[in-house]
Amino acid sequence: MTTSRPPVLLTRRIPSSLLEKLAAECEVDLQEAPLAPEQLRVRVRDKQGMICVLTDRIDAAVLDAGAALKVVANIAVGYDNIDAAAAKARGVVVTNTPDVLTEATAELTWGLILTAARRIGEGERLVRRGGWKGWTLDFMLGTELRGKQLGIIGRGRIGRAVAARAPAFGMTVRFAKQDLSIDELLISSDVISINTSLRPETRHLIDRRALMRMKRSAILVNTARGPIVDEEALAWAMQERLIAAAALDVYEREPIVHEGLLGMENVVLAPHLGSATRETRTAMIDLAIRNVIEVVHGRPPLTPVS
Ligand code: DGY
Repeated sequence: MTTSRPPVLLTRRIPSSLLEKLAAECEVDLQEAPLAPEQLRVRVRDKQGMICVLTDRIDAAVLDAGAALKVVANIAVGYDNIDAAAAKARGVVVTNTPDVLTEATAELTWGLILTAARRIGEGERLVRRGGWKGWTLDFMLGTELRGKQLGIIGRGRIGRAVAARAPAFGMTVRFAKQDLSIDELLISSDVISINTSLRPETRHLIDRRALMRMKRSAILVNTARGPIVDEEALAWAMQERLIAAAALDVYEREPIVHEGLLGMENVVLAPHLGSATRETRTAMIDLAIRNVIEVVHGRPPLTPVS
């Protein structure tokens, strides 16, 4: 007797061992390249599950096209690419990949803090273009972290993991809304790390007004979601030297980076690497697969979004 396996759309290539795990339980429609919205709507037809990434936009039209969908599993902790309310209204479970990327993202956050504070990117560019003339007493002086205040916006897993590493650098930590209001945090912090999700109330949370409140010596770090920072305002603030440095891993219109930021030596620009370690990406894909397998077999998801 043959039992049919639930059909699942997988919008990206994944390591073969993980694909085998999914294929053992589901009929997999594997897409090698990113799908345009209209293609996505075609491919999702008749699928019970979908595994997608943060650059796939899963809106009401996609959910309507996938009338048989039971679950959309995002390979990301952030799920602002999915219309979760529309999914809920249609009885479709949405899952994300919390926990497994916490440490990787916290490590990258510290990498960016150190890179900005100690001008590592700027120095590396100088060495590569043959511009280094040798050691001098006052050459490329950065700022020390010891004794400074790290202000964290976002008290979730990643924000807490960033905070946990602060004592190693002798920094004190303050969380927005827990220890200080956002305004107080902006005014008093030496380094501000954004580790919150993108929601209507956090879109452009860091705007001109917020940047004007920050110390002139402050460093702004964003490893969360690009639209939390108004890039136009940040470019202006950097131009006006309102803050000392910024380090970004995420952007408003990825992969496009605001023109005004590209040429600035004191802006560190990383290409959305927060969770980009082999260990973490494997764990994220594995969790998304397990979520889909559970739901298409009528069991509760492991990590549904709230
Ligand atoms: C996430 O999971 O939201 C990250 O941004 C992916 O790198």
